[in-house]
Amino acid sequence: MTIQWFPGHMTRARREIQEKLKLIDIAIELLDARVPLSSRNPMVDEILKGKPRLILLNKADLADARTTEKWRAYFADMGIPSLAIDASTGNRVGEIPVKVRELLHDKIARQIAKGMTPRPVRGLIVGIPNVGKSTLINRLAGRNIAATGDRPGVTKGQQWIKVGTEMELLDTPGILWPKFEDQLVGFKLAMTGAIREQVLNVEDVAYFAIKELAVHYWDELAERFGLTEPPRDPEDNNELVRVMEDIGRKRGCLVSGGRVDLEKASGIILRELRAGNLGRITLESP
Ligand code: G4P
Repeated sequence: MTIQWFPGHMTRARREIQEKLKLIDIAIELLDARVPLSSRNPMVDEILKGKPRLILLNKADLADARTTEKWRAYFADMGIPSLAIDASTGNRVGEIPVKVRELLHDKIARQIAKGMTPRPVRGLIVGIPNVGKSTLINRLAGRNIAATGDRPGVTKGQQWIKVGTEMELLDTPGILWPKFEDQLVGFKLAMTGAIREQVLNVEDVAYFAIKELAVHYWDELAERFGLTEPPRDPEDNNELVRVMEDIGRKRGCLVSGGRVDLEKASGIILRELRAGNLGRITLESP
């Protein structure tokens, strides 16, 4: 689902997160491992300032593993620890509570030193739409809690979800807006499926995808669609159209007169890319 972000919407989202931050010990920032920069809210460092933080590079199953490790090193240099996870399969999700306790170790030790019994540490998941917040909350809870597609301003009573015995999570995530004033960011988010086709034209997104793939992942694209001739110049639109037509013909997307149905071919490319059928693809490097 795509949220239309208007200024009032952003202000409300920000205020909601700031209210939630008062209740928690650690903010868990969820990013898409395929586009860690484009899936980051432009103001997130300012919004979460002063709170311990853990970054989760989600959908790591779809991303290039080596680049994901480079991103982890990049965030470590910024002083932010991170984990690479797949919320949908649960891969490495079990490491989250362990890491969170580790990050809050000093705070817990202080409570113990004062003779207090430490209460479970409390966390909040934050991120832009479609990064997998609800999937992760459900996974950590071990049951269906968060309705997918929660939007800012639609509040319900907040509850704490137990994650094991030592961690609790707010059941509603903090929803942030993407950096959409940058057109490139919009296309990358559309390519990965975070922004749906109502916002950007499906063919435009598919051409953008072909261009990116031709430059960085030609072998994967060629193998998936049985292509033999890479575009001579990926900046040349005629060449991109030629590749799109090749793909359309391979998949039988033909209309009367033997022309290629470019919209249908576009849909196929994007669907298979997003499903990971072309392999593990990352669109941004640190
Ligand atoms: P949100 O709350 O942040 O808006 O995101 P949500 O959990 O709704 O997840 C958005 C989409 O991302 C969902 O797919 C979800 O299954 C998928 N997803 C979440 N985590 C992962 C992951 O680690 N790996 C992969 N490959 N996908 C992930 P969808 O197509 O919108 O819905 P559905 O078909 O799964 O129901």
